[in-house]
Amino acid sequence: MPSDTRTVIVTGAAHGIGAGIARHLAHAGWSVACADSDADAVQKIATEIGGVGIGCDVGVESDVERMVAVARSRLGRIDALVSNAGISKFEPMATTSLASWNRVLAINLTATFLLARTLAADLKTARGAIVTIASTRAHMSEPDTLAYSATKGGIVALTHALAMTMAPDVRVNCVSPGWIDTGKHGPLKPSDHAQHPVGRVGRPDDIAAAVAYLLSEAAGFVTGAELVVDGGMTRKMIYT
Ligand SMILES: NC(=O)c1ccc[n+]([C@@H]2O[C@H](COP(=O)([O-])OP(=O)(O)OC[C@H]3O[C@@H](n4cnc5c(N)ncnc54)[C@H](O)[C@@H]3O)[C@@H](O)[C@H]2O)c1
Repeated sequence: MPSDTRTVIVTGAAHGIGAGIARHLAHAGWSVACADSDADAVQKIATEIGGVGIGCDVGVESDVERMVAVARSRLGRIDALVSNAGISKFEPMATTSLASWNRVLAINLTATFLLARTLAADLKTARGAIVTIASTRAHMSEPDTLAYSATKGGIVALTHALAMTMAPDVRVNCVSPGWIDTGKHGPLKPSDHAQHPVGRVGRPDDIAAAVAYLLSEAAGFVTGAELVVDGGMTRKMIYT
């Protein structure tokens, strides 16, 4: 790796938005460590982009520490973190067990704290940056999304708390995606696109471009911010 190559850990990089972020950053010249609980799939993405693939459950403290140690030794140093891994588990309140609630919190919220704490010295030395991935569900809800929405609201708050805690060396910002099509829910309908003020559902690269901006020098005066990337949906008046 050339010594001026910037290095980043992207969690949840095996599929969906995380894979899009890993590809986008690799094309922009970053060396990328791809971390994911799907160890086989993450290795495939890493091989495709010339990065490092590391199997890891971000909801487990010891696994986060092991993954960061592997990334550090393989990449030489760590300049940035994209904390993207998440599970969208929706279930009725009455049947949501405490174990299920805690597992969603561990992966979607606590993992970002563990990653930031483990990487704090690396990022301080590098005068680096963190981007977290929340959701427009931090601000608006459907029924039966209690744990997920709570974690995403938590990520927005954790982002500004980390920004103040890690200043002035490390900038910490958040991207809140709206509906991003990752191919998981079958073909989209014309009405899915039409309801968005920009005329289409989002794509992983819409989020990747926002992440790349927040990691870049161009965002040098931006910290503690939430960048909503949702095609305008959270600004759309829906009363009829
Ligand atoms: N797709 C959307 O419309 C949308 C909207 C708002 C926010 N988001 C957020 O974006 C992020 C990515 O979502 P996505 O749609 O790409 O989801 P996805 O399910 O396609 O990808 C999530 C990735 O995280 C990995 N992962 C899950 N649990 C893990 C764990 N314990 N440890 C390590 N890796 C784990 C999965 O294996 C997968 O590769 C999530 O934080 C999600 O909440 C997505």
